[in-house]
Amino acid sequence: MSHSNSRKKSTVLSFFEKKAAGEKISMLTAYDHFIARLLDGCKIDAILVGDSAANVIHGFDTTLPISMDIMIAHTAAVSRGTSYALVIGDMPFLSFQPSIETAINNAGRFLKEGLAQAVKIEGGIEMVATIKRLIECGIPVMGHIGMTPQSINNLGGPKIQGRQASSKAYLLESALALEEAGCFGCVLELLQADIAKKITSACKTMPTIGIGAGVDCDGQILVTNDMLGLHEEGFKPKFLREYANLTPVIVEAVKKYISDVNEGLFPNEDESYGAAKR
Ligand code: KIV
Repeated sequence: MSHSNSRKKSTVLSFFEKKAAGEKISMLTAYDHFIARLLDGCKIDAILVGDSAANVIHGFDTTLPISMDIMIAHTAAVSRGTSYALVIGDMPFLSFQPSIETAINNAGRFLKEGLAQAVKIEGGIEMVATIKRLIECGIPVMGHIGMTPQSINNLGGPKIQGRQASSKAYLLESALALEEAGCFGCVLELLQADIAKKITSACKTMPTIGIGAGVDCDGQILVTNDMLGLHEEGFKPKFLREYANLTPVIVEAVKKYISDVNEGLFPNEDESYGAAKR
């Protein structure tokens, strides 16, 4: 076995190293094998199997209904398509909040059954005891503060966080506590850019990964379907940049297929099998 320094795979250590070197970290979500393979081939640093699968794949209004079993199935499919990117399983609502023992058992499933290398947990300073135990068990943890979708009912909707002084203080205190607990990264979601910048420079080792948190974070994440334009019409949060608009491409292709079938133009001779040759 080779122990050379040429790293073939992105790991949690790469996150710390990139922060130390001032290099940006790129992350996207994936929920299936094929998209995971595409992202991996592009050398994305990490793939989050987000509980946004609840919205994006399963059509729920919030992330709350998705189960551990479904998240594990998505994570295993993504892991099987990945050889470079770090795969992070997103712990769903109530899979870690009830007790540390519940959190260990469920986080362990992401590594044992989902073949992920890390998990993500929503919540700030109040989650530190759980996070420390997971890391002690050998389960790397990414934090997630700001607009945490599992707390949507407490937050009153997807609102920008860090506007009041008390919210700013809680976010900064939480980020520093997550860093101290050993998180290898922390998502900052829907945060005022000034507080995201402040948190990013206050954290000396733990990289911040922004989504709607401005350019000063150490890295960025987007939901892949959103950045490819595969979402409901009219969905256009300010932070979202669409790198492609695939919805009309798919609609056009499907309409053409339907008309070809209806008109007997598909399949043609080249697309059909002839009689078996003797
Ligand atoms: O579930 C998810 O996709 C996420 C990202 C938006 C950070 O948590």
